[in-house]
Amino acid sequence: MKYVIIYGGTRKGSTYNCVQLLLNKLRAFSGAETAEFWLPRDIPEHCRGCFNCLLQGEENCPHFSSTSPLIGTMLEADGIILASPVYGLDVSGAMKTFIDHTCYLWMSHRPREEMFTKVGFVLSTAAGTGTWRTNKTMKNALSYMGVKRIYSFGSSVAASSWTDVKPEKKAKFERQLTRKAEKFYRASQFRRQLRYRLHTRLFYLMMRRMIRGYQEESLDKQYWQGKGWLEGEKPF
Ligand SMILES: Cc1cc2nc3c(=O)[nH]c(=O)nc-3n(C[C@H](O)[C@H](O)[C@H](O)COP(=O)(O)O)c2cc1C
Repeated sequence: MKYVIIYGGTRKGSTYNCVQLLLNKLRAFSGAETAEFWLPRDIPEHCRGCFNCLLQGEENCPHFSSTSPLIGTMLEADGIILASPVYGLDVSGAMKTFIDHTCYLWMSHRPREEMFTKVGFVLSTAAGTGTWRTNKTMKNALSYMGVKRIYSFGSSVAASSWTDVKPEKKAKFERQLTRKAEKFYRASQFRRQLRYRLHTRLFYLMMRRMIRGYQEESLDKQYWQGKGWLEGEKPF
């Protein structure tokens, strides 16, 4: 089983340590292969809003050389893990930069078939509050790319560093993440057989209707036409 982990920060703090609790369990099940990307190191530049990815193709993004290895690894993985500390009640700026650079893969543009059989996991830590919204932001990104099933874990660590997190809290996180790792692993094993969520099916139909109305020269429309999706073929 291949997992890609995208960290919204380079600090090996609470978020990183919670991901390690999850990975230790996953590795115990399967000898999971993992590939890790660290933001902002691996995508150092913010999206410039040039629209090149949306209108001319992703290879015209000025940051394509940094985004393409990460996206390529994501497309080959069975499971995608997004992890971010909570900053200002939401994802870190670095994680948001990753999300901005991958909007062209959303169902409203040019989604990839591979994404529709993948499973995801979003994880965040806060000192006090904000993990629900942070996880929702990351969940949206995966969901609109077509990811089939998404698990989440959020925790209030009541600390600014992992060493200050109380041992009883760490033990609780380990128990919770063990249970979630079991579910996530099982879902990654049987990812092709999982049922599609109603949300995915409805959103896809809405997007198909919208894209049918686009002008013929639109890159998104040509992409959907090329896949046969406007004539009834489906990516799932
Ligand atoms: C710039 C900044 C903004 C933060 N904003 C919040 C916040 O809105 N809510 C909260 O509960 N904690 C907030 N925190 C605390 C972190 O979310 C928390 O300590 C988290 O566990 C840090 O993760 P890390 O150890 O992986 O870096 C903030 C921390 C920083 C540095």
